[in-house]
Amino acid sequence: MFSPDDLPYFDPHTKRRVCFISGGNSGIGYYTVLHLYLHGYVVYLGGRNKNRVETAIQSLKQEALTRRKDPRQALGELYFLEIDLLNLSSVEKAMAEFKTREKTLHLLINNAGIMAVPFSLTKDNFEIQLQTNYISHFLITNRLLPLMLNPSLVQDPRIIYISSVGHWFTFFPFKMDYQFNYRPNIIFTWFRYGLAKTAGMQFINRVAKIHPQILCVSVHPGFVMNTNLFSHFTRLPFIGLLFWVFFQIFGYFFGISNEEGSYATLKCALSDELTPQKDNEKFFVSYGKEHQPSYLAKSSYYAANNWAWTVAELEKRGIKI
Ligand SMILES: NC(=O)c1ccc[n+]([C@@H]2O[C@H](COP(=O)([O-])OP(=O)(O)OC[C@H]3O[C@@H](n4cnc5c(N)ncnc54)[C@H](OP(=O)(O)O)[C@@H]3O)[C@@H](O)[C@H]2O)c1
Repeated sequence: MFSPDDLPYFDPHTKRRVCFISGGNSGIGYYTVLHLYLHGYVVYLGGRNKNRVETAIQSLKQEALTRRKDPRQALGELYFLEIDLLNLSSVEKAMAEFKTREKTLHLLINNAGIMAVPFSLTKDNFEIQLQTNYISHFLITNRLLPLMLNPSLVQDPRIIYISSVGHWFTFFPFKMDYQFNYRPNIIFTWFRYGLAKTAGMQFINRVAKIHPQILCVSVHPGFVMNTNLFSHFTRLPFIGLLFWVFFQIFGYFFGISNEEGSYATLKCALSDELTPQKDNEKFFVSYGKEHQPSYLAKSSYYAANNWAWTVAELEKRGIKI
């Protein structure tokens, strides 16, 4: 049985390893941060709400003290970094700030996400799920890559993209311009989610091709029904309660806890069994089991096209990659 306690520990005094994670203040991200902190990592939690992230950091520090197995093992460090994925200038600002604070990055976890929300456009004029789940992580990754590339300073760099089995919803070749802004939302919103997560996987696979020395993988954390990801449904007036009951029943049979939801990411982040040579472009699901992604997610052809589309779209908005 998988246990994060069996994964390697890095002493922050002798082997300082730095991680940036988007959205580490709740759900699966919270437990990912907890275990990285217990394993000695210096973790920057990128979040849009200072209060929520600082509260999470306090709670993580408390919890780590009670969970630490060996008090001789120093804990890592936790820092808040303000970033709103719905605003590309906030992403640029956060990345510039990160670079003033750190000169190296060992682990990048593109974790933050939203799921199946109604159609809307961000102020950068991207569909809201596309920008949160994909575009902003594309920008974050490109900005932080230079901090991962010097082998004399950074050993074993890793990038993990938190995708979903929901990437299968977009099972047909698509153009990145497709917005699926049709009714009923309850159906087409899943195409938008699937498109964003597929694009994210294609992009991370392309990073692996360009930088084969970096371990680049995608993860589906499992069905984790008690995170905030489902709050759009459970907060709907009247029918929200029905959704909540449905999610609880589904979770009872098929779900895992928020903490177990972090295990696949933790295995990809910490296990010394994974190497770029043998594991790049792989897709891992609950508990870090390997799984086949959709043929579109694997496609180098679509990955190259979608990369070019994204670079061009960012350039139209004054952002050079
Ligand atoms: N739960 C599941 O069953 C499941 C299944 C497959 C994949 N996933 C993926 O797992 C990842 C984590 O989800 P979760 O279940 O842990 O949900 P969650 O509790 O809602 O966590 C999502 C995190 O993303 C952050 N976030 C969302 N929009 C943001 C923005 N505009 N700027 C900055 N941060 C933002 C949230 O911050 P705020 O607190 O500020 O909103 C939160 O920290 C997501 O990518 C999701 O798609 C989850």
